[in-house]
Amino acid sequence: MRRPIPNDLAAFWMPFTANRQFKKTPRLLASAQDMHYYTDDGRAILDGTAGLWCVNAGHGRPKIVEAVQRQVAELDYAPAFQMSHPKAFEFASRLVQISPEGLDHVFFTNSGSESVETALKIALAYQRVKGQGSRTRLIGRERGYHGVNFGGISVGGIVSNRKMFGTLLSGVDHIRHTHDPARNAFTKGEPEHGVELAEDLERVITLHDASTIAAVIVEPVAGSTGVLIPPKGYLKRLREICDKHGILLIFDEVITGFGRLGTPFAADYFGVIPDIMITAKGVTNGVVPMGAVFVKSEIYEAFMTGPEHLIEFFHGYTYSAHPLACAAGIGTLDTYADEGLLTRGAELAPYWEQALHSLKGTKHVIDVRNIGLVGAIELESIAGEPTKRAFSVFLECFERGVLIRTTGDIIALSPPLIVSKEQIDQIVGTIGDVLKAAA
Ligand SMILES: Cc1ncc(COP(=O)(O)O)c(C=O)c1O
Repeated sequence: MRRPIPNDLAAFWMPFTANRQFKKTPRLLASAQDMHYYTDDGRAILDGTAGLWCVNAGHGRPKIVEAVQRQVAELDYAPAFQMSHPKAFEFASRLVQISPEGLDHVFFTNSGSESVETALKIALAYQRVKGQGSRTRLIGRERGYHGVNFGGISVGGIVSNRKMFGTLLSGVDHIRHTHDPARNAFTKGEPEHGVELAEDLERVITLHDASTIAAVIVEPVAGSTGVLIPPKGYLKRLREICDKHGILLIFDEVITGFGRLGTPFAADYFGVIPDIMITAKGVTNGVVPMGAVFVKSEIYEAFMTGPEHLIEFFHGYTYSAHPLACAAGIGTLDTYADEGLLTRGAELAPYWEQALHSLKGTKHVIDVRNIGLVGAIELESIAGEPTKRAFSVFLECFERGVLIRTTGDIIALSPPLIVSKEQIDQIVGTIGDVLKAAA
């Protein structure tokens, strides 16, 4: 039995949460260290999701904690506009040392959603400063998740995130998603079938004309709609089509960035370099909110014209490059480097893959997919009650000491990159046990 919680739970309207269900049986995490959370009643919970895909180096890592503690005592805040502080430049320089070739400039934000808005605005403004102001359309993809702000939900492709919020941004279109369980179920790594889906971009271009399109935005691996792994050759083909038509390619690497696929970024994994790369989450190991948008030098330089006393890009946030975030980020990069975490996923990926695919044949499992240290287990929905089966698996796993994440009837897994083989066994074993016991 949980001990009673002293606080009143009513005031906090929780994000992306079944508030009434939660407040009847709250799940409160009181502390965390390395691979574990500890609940308010002292139970250890193995973190199978790196928090929310963000705590890539694990919890309570000393270099990050100490960096933030030192920073808050030294410089709590510096204005972000027309002023800055040394760690902002240090962190940006460190980031471009590990970024994919050519992505040499960084614009700081405070979240993935803000990074998305920033990237879309850079794309539109870039086309304009290049004298191509007719390129105003933005192309997203069905089942894409690009955060929750208006630009992001407009290019995003998740109906429940869109339908309540009016007409969204105008001038947006979508290409088809790549999820094809009929042909690709239980694929290990990149699916064989579906490269031709990239040609859907040609269809959209034919409809609108390339001269009206500023940018295409995709997640290299779509995370939030259930780990949709691109078919072999798909991203390369998108890159070719964008190049052919002078369209910018934006990768949203909020989840895939910082080692998730066993390479620093998904761009490295797939050998496809976008013009703009969106990151957040793992950039500070989730410790202080931050996002970072990487752009090619050509894009940055295109803005650096006109009289030097004038602001070149009318965009930014009060907390862009916040000192605590920069300190956390530097401590994070140090931790990643010390422990080889940006490539550790590649070493563990074969074990991870084998463990996940051992669930094939388990009750209710209709697909298993994996890449790097990401995995998904898709369950057959209960007739007439979508999401219920996976949500009850989530609740039961939590009771048994493992944190998983579900979206629809898909279990999505993304443990911190410090996970051990025994802990992989515990995550997968617990899910298997819960599924076997499930109705
Ligand atoms: C691909 C992608 N883009 C953007 C976001 C939004 O990030 P945030 O919740 O930090 O705004 C997320 C969050 O999960 C994401 O997965």
